[in-house]
Amino acid sequence: MKFSTKAIHVGQEADPATGATIVPVYQTSTYTQDAVGEHKGFDYSRTINPTRLALEKQLASLEGADYGYAFASGMAATAAVLNLLSAGDHAVVTDDLYGGTYRLFSRVLERYGLEFTYVDMSDLDAVRAAIRPNTKLFWIETPTNPLLKLIDIKGVVALRKPGQIVVVDNTFASPYFQQPLALGADVVVHSTTKYIGGHSDVVGGVAITNDKEIADVIKFHQNAVGGVPGPHDAWLTMRGAKTLALRMRQHAENAQMVAEYLEAHPEVDRVYYPGLASHPQHQLARAQMSGFGGMVSFVLKGEQSRALDFAHRLKYFSLAESLGGVESLICHPARMTHGSIPKEDRERRGVTDGLLRLSVGIEDAEDLLDDLRSALAAVPRVLHGTGV
Ligand SMILES: Cc1ncc(COP(=O)(O)O)c(C=O)c1O
Repeated sequence: MKFSTKAIHVGQEADPATGATIVPVYQTSTYTQDAVGEHKGFDYSRTINPTRLALEKQLASLEGADYGYAFASGMAATAAVLNLLSAGDHAVVTDDLYGGTYRLFSRVLERYGLEFTYVDMSDLDAVRAAIRPNTKLFWIETPTNPLLKLIDIKGVVALRKPGQIVVVDNTFASPYFQQPLALGADVVVHSTTKYIGGHSDVVGGVAITNDKEIADVIKFHQNAVGGVPGPHDAWLTMRGAKTLALRMRQHAENAQMVAEYLEAHPEVDRVYYPGLASHPQHQLARAQMSGFGGMVSFVLKGEQSRALDFAHRLKYFSLAESLGGVESLICHPARMTHGSIPKEDRERRGVTDGLLRLSVGIEDAEDLLDDLRSALAAVPRVLHGTGV
């Protein structure tokens, strides 16, 4: 079965009770049992819910996997996966990653005795050098957030020893453009809030694997901790996922045009987009991904304060956190998504106050380019490379 057929059919059988073609929102916390322990496979909705189960089957299939577990947010899915580690274990983590993931690792999980080393994982020698005798996990985000660096998934997998696991946060690429399990990773995590849900109307997460032992730990955690999505949120995510392929194609087409437009503009200092031939890892992107996604980051010339001035002048790109919805967004990572990373750390990693990140939506590309054109024309000029 091909990608969109899976998105539309896996887990989406007609409702056995009524024949409803679309999986209903099973808005129930509990299920009536015929006798103690005799029921139709559903006993309590923290443990299992038919709407959530349908979503889990659908999303697992999109990553080519047997097991998927839905959570109330991407962070809850990440926390569940980190439950595979115990106190004293160590993880090698990409140094350019979502600020909330960094916050969870550094301010919550370190207190429980887990150890993290942040390295530029686009450099496999740096990954190798960070491995310790107690390393149990590699945490990859690729393309990274917000600098759109690429990490060679197969390359990291080749460094993995028995007992170690490779996890890929596949939120930016979506399963449509990147299939980490097929490249050898053990677990995929998504913030389904983003491309999978696709309409900026629901927060959610999922952890997906083909490894039964890993799946059992994640499933145990899902039930024991209880960070599950409600049935209506599961349903919205499932509906969104059905059109993932169509949306991703348009996101990528629009993002390529936006990236090329910005790169050619005299007011723009630097553009980060894996689909540009100038991207230092463009060849890896071509090999590892089947498309380059909808995220574009860039820096304007001149004073860093021009960034926010520009952002406020846009009409169709709303200044907002998040990404992956049908509508275009602009974000100032230093003050928004990555505000939880200390300034010094952030700037060392290249997330400066001048950096802007676009989530390019699926509006008509000409309108988006016009919007960028007008805003660029309106910000005060840069003369001879110095801000005025
Ligand atoms: C790459 C990435 N991973 C994980 C998350 C966390 O997901 P959520 O906001 O659904 O908890 C985000 C959120 O922005 C993200 O961008």
